[in-house]
Amino acid sequence: MEGKDLEAEIHPLKNEEGQEQKAPVGPGKEAAESLHSRLSRCRAAAFFISLFLCLLVVFVVSFIIPCPERPASQRAWSVNFSGTATLSFLATEDIDNDKIQDVLFIYTSTNDSDLSNHSCADQGFSSPCSIMAALSGANGSVLWAKPVAQDKVLADCGLLSPKSCSTCILTSLSGSMQAIKSCTGNSLWSQLSSLGSKASVLSPLLLLPDMDADGVLDLLMLSQNGQVHSSVISGRTGFQIGHQLSLGVEGVGRPLLHLTSMGAYYVLLPCRTSRSLCSWSLKEIHKQVTGREDTVFKGDALWEDTFNATVSRLLLHNSGGIHQVVRVLGARTEELLVVAAEALALLSDQEQEPRWILGSTRVLRTPIIGNYKPQAKAVAVENGTNDKDRQILLFGLDSGAILWRQAFPSLPGAPESASLLTADSHSVFFFWGLPPSTSTNQTVQAPQDAPHSLYMFHPTVPGFLLELLNVSAQVVAFRVVVLEPSRHATILLLTGPSPVSLVKYKVRDLIQHGRLVSLQKSKPDSELAIRDRFSRLRYLNTKA
Ligand SMILES: *[C@@H]1O[C@H](CO)[C@@H](O)[C@H](O)[C@H]1NC(C)=O
Ligand SMILES: *[C@@H]1O[C@H](CO)[C@@H](O)[C@H](O)[C@H]1NC(C)=O
Ligand SMILES: *[C@@H]1O[C@H](CO)[C@@H](O)[C@H](O)[C@H]1NC(C)=O
Ligand SMILES: *[C@@H]1O[C@H](CO)[C@@H](O)[C@H](O)[C@H]1NC(C)=O
Ligand SMILES: *[C@@H]1O[C@H](CO)[C@@H](O)[C@H](O)[C@H]1NC(C)=O
Ligand SMILES: *[C@@H]1O[C@H](CO)[C@@H](O)[C@H](O)[C@H]1NC(C)=O
Ligand SMILES: *[C@@H]1O[C@H](CO)[C@@H](O)[C@H](O)[C@H]1NC(C)=O
Ligand SMILES: *[C@@H]1O[C@H](CO)[C@@H](O)[C@H](O)[C@H]1NC(C)=O
Repeated sequence: MEGKDLEAEIHPLKNEEGQEQKAPVGPGKEAAESLHSRLSRCRAAAFFISLFLCLLVVFVVSFIIPCPERPASQRAWSVNFSGTATLSFLATEDIDNDKIQDVLFIYTSTNDSDLSNHSCADQGFSSPCSIMAALSGANGSVLWAKPVAQDKVLADCGLLSPKSCSTCILTSLSGSMQAIKSCTGNSLWSQLSSLGSKASVLSPLLLLPDMDADGVLDLLMLSQNGQVHSSVISGRTGFQIGHQLSLGVEGVGRPLLHLTSMGAYYVLLPCRTSRSLCSWSLKEIHKQVTGREDTVFKGDALWEDTFNATVSRLLLHNSGGIHQVVRVLGARTEELLVVAAEALALLSDQEQEPRWILGSTRVLRTPIIGNYKPQAKAVAVENGTNDKDRQILLFGLDSGAILWRQAFPSLPGAPESASLLTADSHSVFFFWGLPPSTSTNQTVQAPQDAPHSLYMFHPTVPGFLLELLNVSAQVVAFRVVVLEPSRHATILLLTGPSPVSLVKYKVRDLIQHGRLVSLQKSKPDSELAIRDRFSRLRYLNTKA
């Protein structure tokens, strides 16, 4: 029957004729015919109704319902405030839900009539006070700005909560803390300091697994008052959990929480006592702070062995002690880059020995990690006795071999370098400095008013640097980020100290006007082709 219907649709005339010939002559014939014609009319009606509905939907979608408006983002913007900026805190997060990351920063207001309508006095502070501000990443308009503290604060955003509307923890140097919702600036909790008056907080706060089993992650605050003390802070309320614990050493660097491949947590801190890298198992800290044991927290004897062996080997030829420890997300696990006064080592907790130890390095600023080739990570180290004789060295992370080296003088107080992953699985590296010399013999002229410049480097064109910017003001904070889903990188600069200026640039726009610096003696074949190479890069918003 169905086959016949189909046939009828394909050859309506022929079929009718055929049917007429074949149909049996009898009393049922007329009834069958009228049924048939009614059916085909129904079918035609159904066809036209559905066609009409389809067209209606197309019409509604294309003309009546407006397209979702693509957020229009200004290519560059700058905002100036009267006040001073000294805190190198610059965080990005989508606060107004326009799919463009917005910018959070803190400055000290001297005149609060220009930004928020909350004055320092409104919040019970005397002027000047610290103001936290959120600016739209799209155009720099103020989303919110509020006085948050009397004095300088350390800030950490994105801790403790989901990505949208995260929690920022502000810690004063004397240890009082408050949690602020990043989307509104409203306070979630605040706690006065329980530290002594002479104590100072070691930045950053460490995010701990849930220590008090209330479903919210907790925080570890290390403070120094002669010796280092640790306090576990509840992420839900800001109250101290258990009691403060003296760690019995004097710290000199930034603390770090390391997770071994066995799932054990260790707090690491470069310490002056024994000029070493001190390590405490979180299991032990938890036990001493709360007075009970929890099977959630483990120790890792194998890692402790490796750690002890590496640290003692590093100290063998290092009178200057250990300065920093940097976390590296390796292919398999978290690895640690340990920076000593005159050496550098990579520690992997799956191997008994350090992966490599490099002598005769003097690291000026925190090393950064990026991809030199796809699947081949590199460490960018600023090496030298001072900024004038600085060289940038790129080491292969797996081998410790030098991949690239360039004499590249800088000025004291220059911002740290940065890297950003590109879609072709490399990284772009950003360095601050004075125009690099092609011959190492060249003496550096660095007059105090010389502008700092920002350079970009891509490993596929190792013979060139592109100068993106000249900045004569002091750069307090610098970030290279992908603010929009567009895969274009953006540079954010907080300059100061007085007045405060926050500037956003698109990297691609800077490339158009940038100056190509050839590191080889010979001139490039085609400047245009190399500039194009930089210009066509697409970026990923993930950390290496
Ligand atoms: C901010 O100040 C800088 C110079 O200090 C100026 O170039 C820029 O145009 C100013 N921005 C605004 C929005 O006024
Ligand atoms: C604060 O800024 C306003 C307007 O910009 C200005 O009139 C006033 O004099 C400033 N006050 C101080 C103390 O700088
Ligand atoms: C200023 O205060 C008014 C109410 O007092 C409020 O509606 C407005 O949003 C505030 N503006 C800013 C920028 O905080
Ligand atoms: C800036 O962008 C926001 C949306 O992100 C918009 O609401 C605001 O009106 C814009 N301001 C200006 C001055 O264009
Ligand atoms: C590592 O060294 C520390 C102090 O130097 C010591 O307390 C600890 O027992 C050592 N760990 C191992 C596994 O040897
Ligand atoms: C690092 O810098 C120091 C001091 O300038 C120098 O002696 C050393 O050779 C450099 N290291 C490397 C690996 O180039
Ligand atoms: C460095 O350059 C100066 C001239 O600018 C020259 O006199 C000197 O011999 C050079 N030194 C070396 C080691 O090449
Ligand atoms: C920076 O300044 C130098 C010297 O004044 C100039 O040659 C160069 O083109 C400037 N670079 C940029 C990116 O504007």
